[in-house]
Amino acid sequence: MSPPSQVGLLGLGAMGTALGQHVGALGHRVVGYDRCAGCLTNATGPGSPIEAAADPAAVCAALQPPRILLLMVPAGAAVDWLLDELAGHLGPEDVVIDGGNSHFQDTQRRVVALADRGEALIGAGISGGVEGARSGACIMAGGDEVAWQRVAPLLRALAAEVDGEPCAAHLGPDGAGHFVKLVHNGIEYAEMQLLAECYLLLKQVEQLGDPAMVERLARWNEGANRSFLLELTADILTRTDPHSGAPVLDVIRDVARHKGTGRWAATAAIDLGVAAPTLVEAVAVRAQSEGEVVRRVLDGRLRPRPTATAKDQPLHGLAAALLAARIAVHVQGFDLLAAGSRAHLWHLDLAAVARLWRGGCIIRSALLEPVAEASTAKPAEGGMLGHAALAEPLATAVPALRAVVARAVQAGVPVPCLASALTWLDGAHTGRLSANLIQAQRDAFGAHGLARTDRPGRFHLDGSED
Ligand code: 6PG
Repeated sequence: MSPPSQVGLLGLGAMGTALGQHVGALGHRVVGYDRCAGCLTNATGPGSPIEAAADPAAVCAALQPPRILLLMVPAGAAVDWLLDELAGHLGPEDVVIDGGNSHFQDTQRRVVALADRGEALIGAGISGGVEGARSGACIMAGGDEVAWQRVAPLLRALAAEVDGEPCAAHLGPDGAGHFVKLVHNGIEYAEMQLLAECYLLLKQVEQLGDPAMVERLARWNEGANRSFLLELTADILTRTDPHSGAPVLDVIRDVARHKGTGRWAATAAIDLGVAAPTLVEAVAVRAQSEGEVVRRVLDGRLRPRPTATAKDQPLHGLAAALLAARIAVHVQGFDLLAAGSRAHLWHLDLAAVARLWRGGCIIRSALLEPVAEASTAKPAEGGMLGHAALAEPLATAVPALRAVVARAVQAGVPVPCLASALTWLDGAHTGRLSANLIQAQRDAFGAHGLARTDRPGRFHLDGSED
């Protein structure tokens, strides 16, 4: 049996503390530090397996090499500060793991900076929230292969398991793990927004009460849409506010803020030239939600009045519509993974990412099985959308999505992600997007040149060739 690991935990917020407790429960030694004195006291108090240290250097001094230094702090300056504090205190076999939601480009920069001083950094996106940290998370790691081998036993032990496989993997060099986490969060935002749109439709168009909605969602959760987020949504709908006794959603403001990882996914898609409009839309909706005051003033001015007959016309096919939109969101996310992998030479194994996401993480769902199957499809076969694992469910689900979006548009209920998924799917299934007109416009006003259907080369509207 291998000796217990010597783990330094830097950052004792909710996630850090839960992970530290999990590491301790596995029989490893954990020494913790946090700049916030109250957090340090709370996390290391009586009964906690986490020992307290006064600063990052003291964490290193308290542990026997080889050490694992796990950073669990907010992305940005806090990570750089800790890495600077650790400089000069690390041994040749020590490995630093950044387990926060760092931007992958920061991780790329830090991996190089640490390597220059002979230190190893693993950038590991950890998903699953506090519960996952306690009982089994999904860990997406990137960085040096040798350093990974040193920390893999610990990270695998902290991970959830599906079919006997731990949901922790080394996905590629430098920022590969944090890039995969960024795409995970892009999909997370879109999945959440799609469920929020279904909630709005069931409430405003079908006029379902919460108990009926819970029943409906529970039924969906027995089928192809089964997911952690769907289960969570149904559970939220059963909760009451402890202050007022009202349904909890009735006392929550209609504003959704965020820390920015979904925005990074949207930006990465735009930067890499990937059409992932539904991921972008999910970020835009959060921004639009911020204009709560203006929205209230304008409420109802452009929308048709709700009809009294709405209740007599149930929203048929909403579950199928949701499935079609979710397939679109996943394929957009996998297109982004593929583009990031090509641009940064990571050689990501897309099927392995899909399998990894089946457990522990926020987007775990039944859909990841067919997504894993489809991720091996070639462009000449229509790519992922052309693979039977997704093409077959889409064939029946897209008509439902079309009907649901049409109904929402008629009723004036905003469904930006459902609508964007439908439009993207339509765009993906046509040989004619009207990009020929865009080419002609660009050449007409800027002589940018155009590509013809009948011969190679760069031409202009007047027929001349460059
Ligand atoms: C996860 C989550 C998590 C994320 C929160 C908040 O995978 O466990 O993605 O890492 O930080 O969900 O995200 P936003 O504040 O950006 O909504």
